[in-house]
Parts: sequence; C-alpha cells; structure tokens
Amino acid sequence: MAAQGSGILVVGAGQAGISLVTALRELGDPTPVVLVGDEPEPPYERPPLSKSYLRGEHDRASLVFRDRRWFAEHGVELVTGDAVVDLDRGASGGRATTASGRVITFERLALTTGATNRLLPVDGAALDGVHAVRTLADADRLAPELLRARRVVVVGGGFIGLEIAAGARALGSEVTVVEATDRLLARAVTPTLSEFVREAHERRGTQILLSASAVRVHGDGSRASGVELADGTTLSADVVVVGIGVLPRTELAERLGLLVEPQGIVVDAQARTSDGVTVAAGDCTVGPNPFTRGVPGPTRLESVPHATDQARAAAATLAGHPTAYDQVPWFWSDQGDLRLQMAGLPAGADRVVVRGDVAAERFSVLSYREGVLLAVESVDSSADYVAVKRALEKGMTIDADAATDAAVPLKRLITGAHAAPSS
Ligand code: APR
Repeated sequence: MAAQGSGILVVGAGQAGISLVTALRELGDPTPVVLVGDEPEPPYERPPLSKSYLRGEHDRASLVFRDRRWFAEHGVELVTGDAVVDLDRGASGGRATTASGRVITFERLALTTGATNRLLPVDGAALDGVHAVRTLADADRLAPELLRARRVVVVGGGFIGLEIAAGARALGSEVTVVEATDRLLARAVTPTLSEFVREAHERRGTQILLSASAVRVHGDGSRASGVELADGTTLSADVVVVGIGVLPRTELAERLGLLVEPQGIVVDAQARTSDGVTVAAGDCTVGPNPFTRGVPGPTRLESVPHATDQARAAAATLAGHPTAYDQVPWFWSDQGDLRLQMAGLPAGADRVVVRGDVAAERFSVLSYREGVLLAVESVDSSADYVAVKRALEKGMTIDADAATDAAVPLKRLITGAHAAPSS
C-alpha cells in the first residue's frame, strides 16, 4: 500500500526538473516540493559543457541556475548526490526510496529523469582517455586532456561530437570524426545542412569519416592510443570522445507500471503519463508534437527549449490547470565559429529551399512538405531563423519560390494560415 504524503516530488534535477519547479512557483502553487538529483551539483546548464566550458570560458558557478538560497526561499528542498531507486504510488500519493535509504512520501509526482549517454560497445571503451560528455564531472575530466591532446578521435557525428571536435580543432589538435551513417547530424537536420557541415569542418582541418564505425579502442597500458575502424584502419589518438546519442532514463517509470517505449516515457500533450496523474518532461519522454508534420506520431525531442516548455506544461497540469505543450521546437549548436540555429522539424520534407550564400557560410535551408513550411536551418542568418520560427508559431507559411530570393527579408513573405499536409 503506497503511503500518502502532502507534497510534490520531482525526480531529476536537470533542465526539465528545475524548469518544472520554477514554473510551479510562477503559477502560484505553494505546495512544498522535494527535488532530487543524483549529481552533486545544484541544477546547472548543460549546453556549454560541449562548447565554451571546454575552452575554460565559464567557471562552474556561472553554470548553476539557482543558488541554494533560492530553493530555501521558495519552499523547495533540493536533494543532491542521491538517487531515487524505488517508487510506488496509489491514487492519492506514494513513496520514494533513495539510494541513501531516505524515504520521501508525496501526493503528486513528476519524472524529469533525462537521459544517459549510449556507451560505445567495443573492447577498450573503458580505457583512460576515452570520454563522453553529459555531466559537469564528465566535462571536468575532459577539459584538461583536450588542452594537452595532439590527436583526438571523436566517435559520433552528432551535435555533441561535432561541437567537441570543433573545440578540439580550435585548440590545435588533429581531429578525426568517425560517423557510422552516411551523413553528419542525420537524426536532426536535412541532408543539405549535413553536407554543408561536413565541408565546413573539413575546411577547418578536421577529418570527417562517414559510414565508418569504431570496432575497438587500442591501448598503451591503461590508456587509449588509437581507434580501430571496421575497415581495418587504426587512427592514433591520445584522446577519444564518444558522442553516439543518448538513452532515456525510464527505469522508475517502468517500476510504476507506466507505459514506456524504447524512445521514452509516453506522455500526452499535457505531459501526463499513462496513469493520468504522474507527469513527465524533458529528454526522458516521448509524446505528441504538433510540429512533427512531416512524420506524424509521438516523438522524443532532445533540447533545452523542449525540456523547458514541456516542463512548464507539466507544472500547469500538476497545479490543476492541464495545459498543452504546443511550442515550436527550436535548437542551436555552436561548432567553433559556426552557429547553427534551427526551428521546426524537417523530417519528412519533400522540398528544400536554400537561400543565401553557402560558400560564404551565410545561408538558410527551408523545408517543406506538400507546400507546407516545416522548418528552417540557418547558418549566420538569424533574421531568417526568427522569421520562420514566427511563421510556424502563428500557423502561417512562406512561399517556397519567393523564399529563394535572399534579397527579400523572409519576414515580409509570411502569409496566411496553411492546412496541415496529409501524411
Ligand atoms: N560509431 C560512430 N557513430 C555512431 C555510432 C558508432 N558506433 N553510433 C551512433 N553513431 C552516430 C549516430 O549516427 C549519430 O550521428 O552518433 C551520432 C549521435 O548523434 P546524436 O543522436 O545527436 O547524439 P549526441 O551528439 O550524442 O548528442 C546527445 O546532447 O546536445 C544534445 O541534442 C543533443 O540530446 C542530444 C544529446
């Protein structure tokens, strides 16, 4: 029989967890909250960890969202360095047990458990000098090694891998990116942008290997010395960085008997899980999104804006005012001096329009399906990004033919509502 508490328990103190707690207070819900995080730090920003933090441009304190006083002043007990390992709940509340043995009872529950890095499933992946970056502790281990590195091999040509590759290259290392598929950033961007990104990294002296997979990390004693590829080549390396995607943390949801798919904890538009009362938000969830127009069906988005916006909907639902999460997805990635800005979801596009000057690294790619605007990817073209994001927010469109003329600002081309494409 699950115990009944009177407060709110939020499991997971990352971007979604802190956003949810902040939104609860902004909504005027005064219910005592316990926010539990397994990392030793109070909630902090992750995006700089694969970018400026590695170059020593941030101190740790500047990454932290709220100091401990804020939590005390807002009726939030922040528990750090402890993990919820067991959970049960009934209709009116439940009980959580942490790794340290503490029991926390609650009335309402939110899961913001995030994701963990996929591990490279090859011999040698646990050698010294092999890194992944998700947490501050990971970045603190990698940063001093990157400063000294001469040869860096990055496994995975996704956002994390490319951001770190650009940073390592700027620090003077020889850098090779090993990507298993036939293009970079395949999960999230159009082939047009993938191709540009490959060329841009190559122009800066980074070697990009596509359709290449690591089969083994070689060691010299306990330390990595190279990465062997499936074709038999071995790339020498003093630092290896693995960025091959993430896995949603769904164990607690499974313990509660909630509906969970390989992509995450299933939620509805109001961030409710399958029991109708527990909410979930952020990287751990899979749910409906009105902007997956090209490929309908539940989707998992991995981004700060998604975590923040969905957490706000979850907070409203917990506070008794169920609210749909319906914001336009947007993303950014700084890869050295390249700044990519993206809004909408381009998957399923049947036409792309390129405007601007690709060779000058100043252009945008607009994606359409059946004439309906899906998404924008901008390189050093913020005005295009802002215009398309606004059009998507208003349910409006931009004529594809007119958009090709880079002399005409896109904001002037935003026109009436469009119908959703058939799928
Ligand atoms: N060898 C080489 N490449 C691989 C392998 C492998 N064994 N396995 C996967 N990959 C490639 C994928 O094809 C993909 O291009 O690794 C890339 C991983 O890219 P993402 O899925 O974008 O994941 P990652 O870059 O690790 O980012 C993790 O951090 O910044 C956020 O939005 C980002 O949420 C994401 C998370």
